[in-house]
Amino acid sequence: MSKTVSLKIDAKEVKVPEGTNLIDAAESAGIHIPNLCYLKGTRSIGACRMCLVEVEGAKGHSVGCITKVKEGMNVKTTTPQIEEMRKFILDLVLSMHPLDCMTCTKAGVCTLQQYAYDQGIKESNFTRKKFGYPVDAANPFIKRDPDYCILCARCVRVCKEQGTNVLDFMGRGVGAKVVTAMDKPLQESGCTFCGSCVDACPVNALLEADRWRKGREWDYTKTKSACLSCGNGCDITVSTKDGGLVKINSGGEEGSAEKYICAIGRFGFDAVSSDARVTVPMVRVNGELKEAAWKEALDLASEKLKAAAGSTGIISTAGILNQDAFVLSKFASDVVRTKNVDTTASLYAEADSMKFSDSADMDSADVIVLAGLNPSQWERVLPALDASTRRRVARGAKLVVINSGETRASSVATVNIAADEASAFAQISKALISKGKKADNALASAVSGLTVPEDAEKAAALLAEAKSPVIFCHPSLFNAARNISLLTDIKVVAVPFEANARGVVSLGLTTEGKTYNEMVSGGLNVLYAVGEVPVTKRPDVKFLIVQTSYMTELAKQADVILPASTCLESEGTIINYLGKVKEVEKAVEPAGESKQHKNILIELSKIMGNPIKESAAKMKSAFQVKEKPAFKPFEKKQGLDIDPSEFNDAVNKSVIYSSRLAWLKEVMTEA
Ligand code: SF4
Ligand code: SF4
Ligand code: SF4
Ligand code: FES
Repeated sequence: MSKTVSLKIDAKEVKVPEGTNLIDAAESAGIHIPNLCYLKGTRSIGACRMCLVEVEGAKGHSVGCITKVKEGMNVKTTTPQIEEMRKFILDLVLSMHPLDCMTCTKAGVCTLQQYAYDQGIKESNFTRKKFGYPVDAANPFIKRDPDYCILCARCVRVCKEQGTNVLDFMGRGVGAKVVTAMDKPLQESGCTFCGSCVDACPVNALLEADRWRKGREWDYTKTKSACLSCGNGCDITVSTKDGGLVKINSGGEEGSAEKYICAIGRFGFDAVSSDARVTVPMVRVNGELKEAAWKEALDLASEKLKAAAGSTGIISTAGILNQDAFVLSKFASDVVRTKNVDTTASLYAEADSMKFSDSADMDSADVIVLAGLNPSQWERVLPALDASTRRRVARGAKLVVINSGETRASSVATVNIAADEASAFAQISKALISKGKKADNALASAVSGLTVPEDAEKAAALLAEAKSPVIFCHPSLFNAARNISLLTDIKVVAVPFEANARGVVSLGLTTEGKTYNEMVSGGLNVLYAVGEVPVTKRPDVKFLIVQTSYMTELAKQADVILPASTCLESEGTIINYLGKVKEVEKAVEPAGESKQHKNILIELSKIMGNPIKESAAKMKSAFQVKEKPAFKPFEKKQGLDIDPSEFNDAVNKSVIYSSRLAWLKEVMTEA
């Protein structure tokens, strides 16, 4: 715990942790210090000077974003002289900025506009300077209009800190410009189109490409939710207008290392209103899929499930909500009465690794271990884990990468252990024991004969000193990694490749009969597939029910299609990889006749004569099952080695190819 510092800001008593800057300290007391270049969480550069304040006893004025609080400090954030200086700075900035507020998309949320309003500046007193820079609108995601740029460098810093490092300044002074390397368009610059820079830009210089005359912020309804497209389960803020989706921004807390979403989370929403949606139930008649009424489709599904005589299987993705997973689990056990129910999580994780992973806080992690994982913003494998890890490293955390193969993150690691991961955990354990950490007999004897290489020694030294260390590991390494928690206080998190794997596994969607792979290989009378499962060829089954939001390859081969709402049209919760329960709120109404998974299953259960009841209490208790760690052999669980990049593309295929992301795929393939 850091020390608390007491000070006075505008005569208000303020108590904040040591190391806080004056802008944040004032904000915590409800006092806003105007600022243009400050971006909470990132390194302050003190460029714009809008945040000048008066500190009693200090020479001249102090820069609020750079000055750290001190015990007994007395700060004034506004005096006639300070206001005069702010007015002068704004006047200067406005002389180089288009006065376009009438048609500017950013009006209403533009910081420059707000401060000009606060200071009552209508026109600049300086001679206007027009640059006439070309606009970069060569991609369907982000429009860059340098004429609006106020050179605050927020975009440069946010992109650098997360490791994508696409933007920088060219030139000096007022003639400076934010550019990519060689001033190329974004798609030729290594940009991942995550849009972090768009979220950071205080003016209209960086904006979603399709926003022109699609409404301003005050026209939008905002819904806080979570993205379900990969194992990270990022916070999102969804903007809608007239019942339609307009844009998605990161919903992460300001200043948090986790404030990030990737291009899928930000731009994949086009798919929700695309032609690829299944919006009405369909049944196969004389070999052809035909639209049907809900009753007809559900009656047929019910009849086939009843007649299947136990030869039934249910497969699902692990990207469905907890409430849907709970009902699906009940549907399998109480209605269909089958033990054959499994999810795609079984392709990469053992159930225990999902159930017993710790909860972790990225923002306090001071030593991060990435083991057997290769998170990457570029290949879009756990991109948010990649971005937040790099941010933590930029903010002073140490990174240990343990991987027998090459990884993207190794370039920013303090220690790289390029060896068998399970053996590395054994060596680190031995090194921790020799540093005085207590081990039980089983663990001590398992590592007693080992020699410890230098890298493992270094990793152990970092872990022994760390205040808040976290191991993020591939689920196959969970048991080996968890042994470290028997020696030192550490969080061990097995990272899944789907948003709610921790939730669906805890809720019982793990098979006691046939596995996901066994069911997909055929032989059942009825197979019921829920969500966009990555199966393209119809399994050899007598009857196939597909409950999906999109017309997937598998859906095209189904006997019955039940249209499901997407996550932006559903509500419930997920448990993301960090163990956080995240609310998924409905942002728009379900397309056509589609319904949330659980509602389809409940209706079907009624037709089948055994109605399911939802139970929030039972669901909650499923998450409370905990297991005390005990020594397990330092081994990697075999058979869980799917390619995460291919898997992600397969489960998100409909979203990618029915949205502007298809353009990105094409550009990347050509490159
Ligand atoms: S979209 Fe992302 S990667 Fe591209 S410039 Fe902006 S912050 Fe950097
Ligand atoms: S593009 Fe936006 S965020 Fe980047 S320097 Fe210019 S005004 Fe700042
Ligand atoms: S990183 Fe994953 S969860 Fe986050 S926005 Fe991207 S796809 Fe969604
Ligand atoms: S916000 Fe402090 S100098 Fe810009």
